[in-house]
Amino acid sequence: MTVSRRSFVRSLGVGGAGALALPTWLSARGHEAGTHLDDALAAARWQGASPIKLDSNENPNGPAPAAMRAVQQAFRRASLYPARGEQAVRDAIAQAQGLQPDQVMVGSGSGEVLRLAVQAFCTPTRHLVAARPTFETPARYAGVLGLPVREVPVDKSLALDLDGMLAQVRGAGLVFLCNPNNPTGHVHGAKAVTAFIEAALRADPEVVVLVDEAYHEFVTDPAYATSVPLIARHSRVVVSRTFSKIYGLAGMRLGYAMGAPATLARMERLRLENGVGSLTQVAGLAALGDTALVQREREGNRAALEFTARWFTDAGYAVVPSQTNFVLVNIRRDATAFKDSCAAEGVLVGRVFPPLTQHTRISIGTMDEMRRAVAILGRVLS
Ligand SMILES: Cc1ncc(COP(=O)(O)O)c(C=O)c1O
Repeated sequence: MTVSRRSFVRSLGVGGAGALALPTWLSARGHEAGTHLDDALAAARWQGASPIKLDSNENPNGPAPAAMRAVQQAFRRASLYPARGEQAVRDAIAQAQGLQPDQVMVGSGSGEVLRLAVQAFCTPTRHLVAARPTFETPARYAGVLGLPVREVPVDKSLALDLDGMLAQVRGAGLVFLCNPNNPTGHVHGAKAVTAFIEAALRADPEVVVLVDEAYHEFVTDPAYATSVPLIARHSRVVVSRTFSKIYGLAGMRLGYAMGAPATLARMERLRLENGVGSLTQVAGLAALGDTALVQREREGNRAALEFTARWFTDAGYAVVPSQTNFVLVNIRRDATAFKDSCAAEGVLVGRVFPPLTQHTRISIGTMDEMRRAVAILGRVLS
């Protein structure tokens, strides 16, 4: 049975009259109904039709079709508590990665995994090492818990300063290595990452290194490789991934960590019981089983990414070569004002990542969305 997005939304009871209560752009792109409130407000301020949403590195094609079908069929089971231990999902991930199930832990998005890692491995005397800018969750959560953070600025080319980070490892509880990095889109090759991780583990006998591979599936650079094989050799390496990006399940909240069972257990004990809902588990399982999806999405993303990067380059703006589903552009002007102006014209671009206050991060939509978006962004820039 094929399920269109519209019939899927109807089947959940969200369509029809219910949809009238939603802003136009939410009902038009139902898979984004979990979008941040500030985005919704920005959209509400805009007087036109649906804005083009290029602000959160989501999948513009919606959820994996197999996940939509599976959730529709499983919805009846939503009255029951989720399967204990998320065993089926962990089994499937383990099988896909060539691991044992006890080397996999799931979370409510990989954001939960990052939060748990900070909580489990950092203490008031064991700091977090992170780049600046990078994905903010670990440093932000360390701040909330009053835990020390050492942030190492990216280098001139906006690559992670691996030597600079290494110099901060002694005495650390956790090193957060985002590869490819959000928001720069830059990726480090396997050799450099392995050397960095092994040097970090040598530098401190307790430190844990977490490699965030949220954008792994989008990478095309042949020098890159996942750090998953390292977890077999090193018990203090954890790798995180997400279903939010290439699988289009950001609203379902499913991510996972891979690592040594004893290391994952230190995070697992802090997790909310039943924190990954049953429909989320069903969606994740179905998405993993859609073997053609990753290549299809990667190719579609790459074409739209190259089109967008070329457009900015031709217009005279420096673009950071991206291995992800977003691109960081130096617009040589205040990026917050630019973001607001774009929202007023119906294009939502990403938040600003200090200290890069003159760079804008643009998530890659469909080719059609990017063609329409660059025309509008060009007007704002001029
Ligand atoms: C690098 C990185 N890690 C983790 C996440 C968290 O994603 P989620 O919690 O949806 O899995 C994101 C989200 O944008 C991200 O960019």
